[in-house]
Amino acid sequence: EKGNYRHYMQKEIFEQPTVVAQTLRSYIRQSDNSVALPQIDFDLSAIKRITIVACGTSYYAGMVAKYWIEQFARVPVDIDVASEFRYRNPVLENGGLALFISQSGETADTLAALRHCKQAGQTIAVVVNVPTSSMAREADLLLPTHAGPEIGVASTKAFTCQLAVLAALAARLAVTKGQMDRTEEQDVVRHLLEAPAALNAALDHDDDIAAIAPLIAPARDVLYLGRGPDYPLAMEGALKLKEISYIHAEGYASGEMKHGPIALIDEAVPVIVLAPSGPLFEKTVSNMEEVRARGGQIVLISDREGLAEAGDGCLATIEMPKVHPLIAPLVYAVPVQLLAYHTACVKGTDVDQPRNLAKSVTVE
Ligand code: M6R
Repeated sequence: EKGNYRHYMQKEIFEQPTVVAQTLRSYIRQSDNSVALPQIDFDLSAIKRITIVACGTSYYAGMVAKYWIEQFARVPVDIDVASEFRYRNPVLENGGLALFISQSGETADTLAALRHCKQAGQTIAVVVNVPTSSMAREADLLLPTHAGPEIGVASTKAFTCQLAVLAALAARLAVTKGQMDRTEEQDVVRHLLEAPAALNAALDHDDDIAAIAPLIAPARDVLYLGRGPDYPLAMEGALKLKEISYIHAEGYASGEMKHGPIALIDEAVPVIVLAPSGPLFEKTVSNMEEVRARGGQIVLISDREGLAEAGDGCLATIEMPKVHPLIAPLVYAVPVQLLAYHTACVKGTDVDQPRNLAKSVTVE
């Protein structure tokens, strides 16, 4: 039930600290702060390549995971949307792990891709929210998210729980590959355990974000920019806005702006920039300057440090807690979800049942 919330989506956004904590609990051994996966009956350390396949928001979680797995475990990762993967005759070498990510576990294209990989002799891992689903049943390694039932068509809490599981998987893989020592593993665990409080701190900015929504609602087009693991978050933000507010939105890698989309920039196109302070921040600030020089209206989402440096002259700013880069994609999911949510509310669209969309796409 919705309780005090207006919409399921809103309730599910606010459940994230709890369900992410719940999910993390089953992947972290508290006694020694290590990452633990469910019982595996194959040799994880022998995995040579990972192929990630998913759709929509689950695909964006997979894109974040590619950054993590390659950075921590040094295992090469391919990623594709299921509808493309199925029909492009992908090269699947022996010793590969095929990783499917799905809230429902029933998405037709993802399920077909899973069966294709099984036939091709890949080990099948599945990150799924519905433990009784078809994908869960067909997995060699089942990695459940514990988000609880997700009712809103726009995926929110399933996404952050997928990220929590995928971070644990990346760390576990890194340990088995000898790429991460005990101290580093404990650091990862410590940062992951900071996520629920950081999500709460992000949710505290709900009112500020609601106040910005009327500035976004009149737009015809919106651009979202991010770098590194926050680039998939830019795409996720754009997808959320499209789905529930029907505003055309695109997520771009910040550095790609000048290769085309900058031509779109004028006063009428808000540009949402996701940029936690850190090594990539200066790069993103210079992309922001390029936007500003063309009259672009920027909404900067960053931490206090980032806002102090680059917040002046923005249309609006949204302050996030300063967090370790590992958990930034989880934390920055909150403001893009809330911005889409409040913009849809301003426009008066049907948030939980957007037109033309189904919760789970069981036809191809
Ligand atoms: O159940 P799945 O995670 O497999 O669903 C995949 C997509 O259909 C889903 O993420 C869709 O893009 C959502 N409506 C996004 O909010």
